[in-house]
Amino acid sequence: MSQSPSGNEAAEKPSDASDSRMIRIFDTTLRDGEQSPGASMNLVEKLEVAQALADLGVDIIEAGFPIASPGDFEAVKQIAQTVRGSTICGLARCNDKDIDAAWEAVKYAPQARIHVFLATSAIHREFKLRMTTDEIVERAVAGVRRAANYCDDVEFSPEDACRTEHDFLCRVVEAAIDAGATTINVPDTVGYTNPKEIFNVFRMLRERVPNMDKAVLSTHCHDDLGMAVANSLAAVEAGAGQIECTINGIGERAGNAALEEVVMALKTRRDFYQCDTRIDTKRLVPVSRLVSKMTGIQVQRNKAIVGRNAFAHESGIHQDGMLKERSTYEIMSPDDVGVAKTDLVLGKHSGRAALADRAKTLGYTLTSEQLQTVFDQFKRLADKKKDIYDGDIVALIQQQISGS
Ligand code: KIV
Ligand code: ZN
Repeated sequence: MSQSPSGNEAAEKPSDASDSRMIRIFDTTLRDGEQSPGASMNLVEKLEVAQALADLGVDIIEAGFPIASPGDFEAVKQIAQTVRGSTICGLARCNDKDIDAAWEAVKYAPQARIHVFLATSAIHREFKLRMTTDEIVERAVAGVRRAANYCDDVEFSPEDACRTEHDFLCRVVEAAIDAGATTINVPDTVGYTNPKEIFNVFRMLRERVPNMDKAVLSTHCHDDLGMAVANSLAAVEAGAGQIECTINGIGERAGNAALEEVVMALKTRRDFYQCDTRIDTKRLVPVSRLVSKMTGIQVQRNKAIVGRNAFAHESGIHQDGMLKERSTYEIMSPDDVGVAKTDLVLGKHSGRAALADRAKTLGYTLTSEQLQTVFDQFKRLADKKKDIYDGDIVALIQQQISGS
């Protein structure tokens, strides 16, 4: 059943496999994600997460920043040596030592990528790098060339791209592609942009950079204003072919775009975006739990897709609708993301239909009088107790059956 609201031309475009685009998923849980305060993982944990990401169907795994520490170098190297099925990428600043270390770590992978970055915004040029625009272009070109001498898969990121003057951004991007960059990533490093603005930046790059068709455009959004996922999707609408994201949205400060959210938005609203990914969505919840366990970062209960409440319904009106027809209140099947079933939580907002359904699941068929009495007692209990367990329901039913 189509769930498209009307009033939007794109949303009403018929879904047609022939004009769908494949979007590459670039996971940076092990690099940007690990930069979340308190999220460090050891070598064994990183190897387990990397294997899970490959099994999930991630196209590119950014395994770390090899120059950052001997431990990071070793983790990227071992991931490159053992994990198969995804491109393995190492991050490097635009200098020889970083790029050489990145190559030394990733070179064991059948598909290896070096990702070089250099800040381009006026704020970063003036206060952090103390470099002129000419010097930035020169350093970016030298970095990309050095990486391209090692491998033919080179990504370049103009850091803080979304706060960079458009003329200068176009100039750096064109020069990086000429030097051999095959992916141009446009980071919103500080989570400052919004969907309309990022759409315009991507469209502008596609219109103004003459060699743009020689590289894949990529989006990398941070969540400081809570718009990382919306911004990533807007970039896709404007032609991005790669999304950089992390499991559970972990990352610097407020985090990165959450992989599970961008993937399920593209899948659930395929009618609108007309894009596919290679992600095996049934693995999303297990991978989310694994990353949470390895990093010690809890997933909030109401987190989209992977939170404990994402497929839980408590209100009586919603539960009644769900029992009649799931699509009334459910836009995705829990099974599609690896959750066994929808949870009709019994609480003070629940109604008789959900209680009768639970009683039936527990093996009891109640008369309407019995159901009414149990329901009244259940409501009194729910006012006092936050969590109502099946054991509580069974106790109420047993009391009723033995008393009647
Ligand atoms: O946010 C950012 O700018 C980054 C770059 C290194 C791509 O993480
Ligand atoms: Zn980042």
